[in-house]
Amino acid sequence: MMKSFIRKPSVLMAGLFVGLLGATSVASAQSLQIKQWAASCAACHGTDGYSEGGMASLAGQNKDAMVKKMIDYKNGKVPGATIMHQLSKGYTDEQIEKISAYFAALPAEKPVAKRK
Ligand code: HEC
Repeated sequence: MMKSFIRKPSVLMAGLFVGLLGATSVASAQSLQIKQWAASCAACHGTDGYSEGGMASLAGQNKDAMVKKMIDYKNGKVPGATIMHQLSKGYTDEQIEKISAYFAALPAEKPVAKRK
């Protein structure tokens, strides 16, 4: 049974290929999911986390610091926290970790669109 399978390298290759495809689509589905979570922050913190002023920018923040702030909001450790106190409770610690990593990976300065 096993021997006959190994004698067909094309079957092996096809299986490997499908496996790789599967892994890739899972990864991109995950990053799409994270983008969607992060998009809900844009309403207040600016598109892609670039604030237009009067609000903290999230883009380019230190990831660990951001995770800590979110967890502190969630646990009610931050005095006077308003909306974030409620909002942070809607995310698991893992989601907070991933959202923070997403914003931390963006450049702190909003990339300026080049004119032609
Ligand atoms: C409805 C508006 C609103 C939304 C949506 C929102 N925030 Fe906030 N956020 C605030 C306000 C207001 C503050 C500052 C006051 C406070 O602590 O409540 C804040 C503060 C923060 C801070 C602390 C900023 C700093 O540098 O001290 C972080 C981090 C943060 N928000 C992350 C997020 C993330 C991540 C999301 C999306 C999951 C999000 N926020 C969505 C309103 C919002």
